[in-house]
Amino acid sequence: MTDHADARLQAQYEAYPYPQRDPRDEAKRLITGSPGHLLEVDHWVFGASRPASRPLRALIAGGGSGDATIILAQQMAKAGRSGSVTWLDRSSAALKVAQSRAAARGLTNIVWEQRSLLDLPGSDLGPFDYIDCCGVLHHLPDPAEGLRALLSVLAPGGGLGLMVYARYGRTGVYMLQDGLRLLTPPDQEPEARLDVARRVMKHLPETAWLRANRSVTDHLKGGDAGLYDLLLNPRDRAFDVPELSDLLAGEGLSVTCWVEPLRYDPVPLLPDPRLRARIATLAPIERMTLAETLAGNIASHIVYCTRAGEAPVRADPFGPDAVPVCRETTGEDIVKGIQANNTMFVILDGLRVPLPLSPMAPTILPLVDGKRTVGEIGAILASRGIGAEAFERAWRALFPALESINRLLLAAPVGVVAPASAQPTGA
Ligand SMILES: C[S@@+](CC[C@H](N)C(=O)[O-])C[C@H]1O[C@@H](n2cnc3c(N)ncnc32)[C@H](O)[C@@H]1O
Repeated sequence: MTDHADARLQAQYEAYPYPQRDPRDEAKRLITGSPGHLLEVDHWVFGASRPASRPLRALIAGGGSGDATIILAQQMAKAGRSGSVTWLDRSSAALKVAQSRAAARGLTNIVWEQRSLLDLPGSDLGPFDYIDCCGVLHHLPDPAEGLRALLSVLAPGGGLGLMVYARYGRTGVYMLQDGLRLLTPPDQEPEARLDVARRVMKHLPETAWLRANRSVTDHLKGGDAGLYDLLLNPRDRAFDVPELSDLLAGEGLSVTCWVEPLRYDPVPLLPDPRLRARIATLAPIERMTLAETLAGNIASHIVYCTRAGEAPVRADPFGPDAVPVCRETTGEDIVKGIQANNTMFVILDGLRVPLPLSPMAPTILPLVDGKRTVGEIGAILASRGIGAEAFERAWRALFPALESINRLLLAAPVGVVAPASAQPTGA
């Protein structure tokens, strides 16, 4: 089902492919993020139990100018992981940018599909083990229909990484969208609308809620595409925790992670024991809602999910064979951030949250290199006179704490090397 708003949405992303990227920047940096980070997919979607040697068929639905496609394809190529990443989007302008970025990196494990994700059911595509859909469902005429389309090509045992806008963290956005529609109706050409938005931004009253909102920056840092996407979008809606939870449950999905889990925990926000006693009586979804409404700074919800009943058998992070790995950091760097009282302060979109860690964190973390098993780390510590029990106690506290900020995860098991015929195809 398409409508006027959808036709305008299509025109927007032709005029301003999102996000605004310059392929020449690929020589300088790799943009990483969530969802779609290979370590997160291994850990949160497959429970670190799917062998790295098994080819991974990934779909990036609504891939835009290519961020998630590039991250995943690059990480897979670097790690020598077989499989392919399929970029799919309607926008030919976004396709051009994404392809130039991939070419700049010499990536050969990407398949390009310019079409609507709503046409996936009954198509020749799939099945996919991992489907990433970041910042797309909330623009569709019917997000549930979009989810169903994705699920139609999800392989058994596969999972999704989704991002949708969050209600409270976008405070100020929708009132400004309402105002801008009066000055530049959606039926005007994208270029003319952007000109109006730029003029308004020059005179944005100092009391405008958007100015007070530090969680949304697309109008400041996202170039023309970011400004348009945030303030002139023909259709976007935001979800609060219960709404997103209902949407996912309605399509038979079960969430394996709300990223980052610590954001959705109200306990660190309310040290008052009476309040904590009350929090303990709340249902999980109510606790998350409380965190969302108290902090007010979650501008988008990122979730990993699988079909309910198909959640992976999670590798045991405390078992001797588990291989812990730091995500986008090193054990040494985490240690640098630990204060004298064994606490590290995590900054979550401007919110400073204390995270108490085991006193043994500075001894253990430098040994985490993404290759050593928990058993091997324990053996090294034993050779330094640290008993197995002390290590186990410390690890049982340390791993969940750092997992809750998505910095310490479990690596996929190496597995059996696939025969040549199962190696990547790539387009
Ligand atoms: C806000 S951008 C997100 C791009 C990218 N996923 C990211 O997060 O950087 C939304 C993208 O969804 C695409 N899109 C919207 N509706 C679509 C549909 N029905 N089928 C495929 N792509 C669609 C747009 O063309 C656009 O590139």
